[in-house]
Amino acid sequence: MQIDTTLLPVRGNDAVEILRNDHQVIKTLLTELTEAVGPRREQVLEQLKGVLTIHNATEENLVYPAINKVAGSKLEAQHLYHETAEADTALFELDSMLKERDESEFGTKAEKFAEAVRHHIEEEEQKAFPRLQENADARHSEILAESVKTFRKSLHFETPSIA
Ligand SMILES: [Fe+2]
Ligand SMILES: [Fe+2]
Repeated sequence: MQIDTTLLPVRGNDAVEILRNDHQVIKTLLTELTEAVGPRREQVLEQLKGVLTIHNATEENLVYPAINKVAGSKLEAQHLYHETAEADTALFELDSMLKERDESEFGTKAEKFAEAVRHHIEEEEQKAFPRLQENADARHSEILAESVKTFRKSLHFETPSIA
């Protein structure tokens, strides 16, 4: 898989703002995926895989640990990790359908997947992120924002050149 990092630019001053802006990109791609037919399905799925890889890595490495330790919500953090793993499995299944050229269930599966990810995003935006913001003092917020920006800058995927 080739990840196009330009699909998910870092926009925002703090961690939550950056993640909320990521969510807009993800939601647009989810709609495109459920509406796509033919070869467009593969294109959108590749974009979605790339964007989710970057977004989920940011959350799993930095933000969920902060929800656990800074906001004191261990269960919430565990729940979000679990939902992310479930979504990864669904994404793998969708990918396999395209690779095996059996798309009879693709539309239904894509709808379910999109619904699950939308629900996960909703939970983050309505519950987990506000809790983090309530519990993080200015220093915590600053450290987390810097960590997220540094992490995202460090993600450079290069295409191997063919000599
Ligand atoms: Fe998430
Ligand atoms: Fe998220």
